[in-house]
Amino acid sequence: MGCKKKVLAVHVLVFPFPAQSHVSSMLKFAELLCLENLKVTFLNSHYIHDRLFRCTDVEARFANYPGLIRFKTIPDGLPEDHPRCGHDRFREMFESTRAVTKPLFREMMVSGELSLGSSTWSPVTCIVADGVMSFAIDVAKDIGIMSVAFRTISASCYRAYFSIPRLIEAGELPFQGNVDMDMPIEHVPGMEGFLRRRDLPGFCRSSNLADPILQFVISESQHNARADALIVNTFEDLEAPALAHIRTHIIPNTYAIGPLHSHLQTRLGGKTAVSLYTLWEADRNCLTWLDTQPSKSVVYVSFGSAVVMTRDQLLEFWYGLVNSKKRFLWVMRPDLVTGKDETPIPAELLERTSGVGCLVDWAPQEEVLGHRAIGGFLTHSGWNSTLESIVAGVPMICWPYFADQMVNSRFVSEAWKLGVDMKDLCNRGIVEKMVNDLMVERREEFVRSADEMARLARESVSRGGSSFCKLDRLIKDIRINSQ
Ligand code: UDX
Repeated sequence: MGCKKKVLAVHVLVFPFPAQSHVSSMLKFAELLCLENLKVTFLNSHYIHDRLFRCTDVEARFANYPGLIRFKTIPDGLPEDHPRCGHDRFREMFESTRAVTKPLFREMMVSGELSLGSSTWSPVTCIVADGVMSFAIDVAKDIGIMSVAFRTISASCYRAYFSIPRLIEAGELPFQGNVDMDMPIEHVPGMEGFLRRRDLPGFCRSSNLADPILQFVISESQHNARADALIVNTFEDLEAPALAHIRTHIIPNTYAIGPLHSHLQTRLGGKTAVSLYTLWEADRNCLTWLDTQPSKSVVYVSFGSAVVMTRDQLLEFWYGLVNSKKRFLWVMRPDLVTGKDETPIPAELLERTSGVGCLVDWAPQEEVLGHRAIGGFLTHSGWNSTLESIVAGVPMICWPYFADQMVNSRFVSEAWKLGVDMKDLCNRGIVEKMVNDLMVERREEFVRSADEMARLARESVSRGGSSFCKLDRLIKDIRINSQ
């Protein structure tokens, strides 16, 4: 009689940075693990856990999976009413995870609260930590289990982050005084001359090398290289050069398994809710409004979960959109505008918006981008939004705000030819011109390249595709390392 195959007790702890984009991509990764019959502990901040469970019936989603998931929470050290958006706020979030979450996490793992099993839970055998929470990699190494860093940014941006010390050594950073922001950068390997100063990650614009957020990004990116493996939410056909560079010079075990939202849908046979795991209630009435619009006639406008802008900037975008005479669906997050300027929105502007514009606090973005009425996406170039637009085949107008978004918008416009880059500009004339370029003047050019890249994205997550196979390989490695 053949011996009973020992079922490996594989228990993966997935630990995202407590912010919308990080949580939504890593929870989709956790869902893929459960689909493949693994056990997962998903560790969220209290704040995110409460918001997430208020907006999505998360446990119902996992109810029928072969694998198991449990949700644990850990303090992020921030007051409940911390705005958690905007550049300076993100600095506080990074600092707080280091000051508060880091020691607590070690304690929870070493004490067994997180790592030890119960009747149904075996001890944690692998930690998959957000690439900006590298302290978790050290804990995994100290307790002798597999460690994986998960970067929620593009491979090209990670390569740029990792190269920042070289830029400092070569004197290309910091920018001293009033510099020519169009000057090409020569010391990001594989991107020599492609990135200009203005396309470097937003953190590089600090004139002070001791800037805590710049130092944080540098140390975390170097620290990721100590993990046993690296996961990047991207696909080979989109970023082959950056992935090859990372595997050769930073960490050989690098798994490109994205676009994750599309990968999850494929493995679920396409029968799954989309626009998942958001921290705000999505207003689905905008889909009914889209149903009444002509095909490819609407510009979708959304600046993600962390961008803030001044009221003047808001008005420049708004006038540019109405002057373009194109229809638009705009996500106006309640905390989008800084500074409570009480002057009312000009009545004339509201008048010109009615009938052509639809405003919502938060949209079911993946469904919106997949809607036939959508012809273009005015975006901040957050990485999830960029991938979702690529999969949907929707060309983009990029207005990056900070962090990885500067690099993403440069690749969208100059490398992948999927749209136009409005970086560092914000006036109604430019907005109007770029909307017309995307929706009319250069439409055919962008639609051709967007359709091709969408095809490659779908192929990568289909059975036998590069991301599909990489995920199988990663799961196999996690199982082997759990022995
Ligand atoms: C961005 C960067 O991507 C991230 O790397 C950085 O750490 C923080 O800023 P975010 O602004 O959240 O993150 O953008 P993005 O990566 O595009 O993620 C936003 C997510 O929210 C997307 O998955 C999008 O589908 C969803 N979304 C956005 C909605 O569901 N509805 C909306 O109305 C707007």
